[in-house]
Amino acid sequence: MLNVKDRSAIKVLYSAEQIQQRIQELAQQISRDYKDVDDLVVVGVLKGAFMFAADLVRAMGLPVQIEFIKLSSYNNDETESSGKVKAVDLSLPELKGRDVLVVEDIVDSGRTAKFLLDFFNEHLSAKSVKIAALFDKPCRRAEELEYIKPDYCCFTIDDYFILGYGLDYSQHFRELPYVGYVELAS
Ligand code: IMP
Ligand code: MG
Repeated sequence: MLNVKDRSAIKVLYSAEQIQQRIQELAQQISRDYKDVDDLVVVGVLKGAFMFAADLVRAMGLPVQIEFIKLSSYNNDETESSGKVKAVDLSLPELKGRDVLVVEDIVDSGRTAKFLLDFFNEHLSAKSVKIAALFDKPCRRAEELEYIKPDYCCFTIDDYFILGYGLDYSQHFRELPYVGYVELAS
């Protein structure tokens, strides 16, 4: 267990400046792709993507509608997915026929991304659904979800457990402006 007041165990993976630089690049790409779309809906996945979503929409510079969805997949004190994903708080408006950009902190096993794609496509009948992820950990993908890939991704990383810039370790460290990693005993 990490001591939440002791940040010395955290090694910096990406500095605040590196993150902002990469978000600018990704935002330009996204803005180009969506320049002819009138009513883009950006859906941030709570809590992990709250900072990324805020910085991304500012950098995109497109008129968008912003919504958030809260899901559950990890238990509070675990770094392993429970394997199940569900929407725990949902107050999304009618999205029938709308273009949706889902903003995720990290695609790990891919279960959350799969749930979101199915949810927006099938349940909410979106016109299009794409995923923008701050991080992708393809080496962790569940066997049956190997085809899941974010449409936009800031950084592809190896099997690190990361925290900061919205990402948590047992609900801690989300406030860090950088992304760090810790060695977790396995
Ligand atoms: P997935 O459903 O297994 O792809 O997991 C997605 C969710 O797990 C993310 O939205 C994160 O909340 C959490 N997660 C996965 N890897 C990490 C990590 O390295 N640090 C913090 N949270 C993580
Ligand atoms: Mg989490």
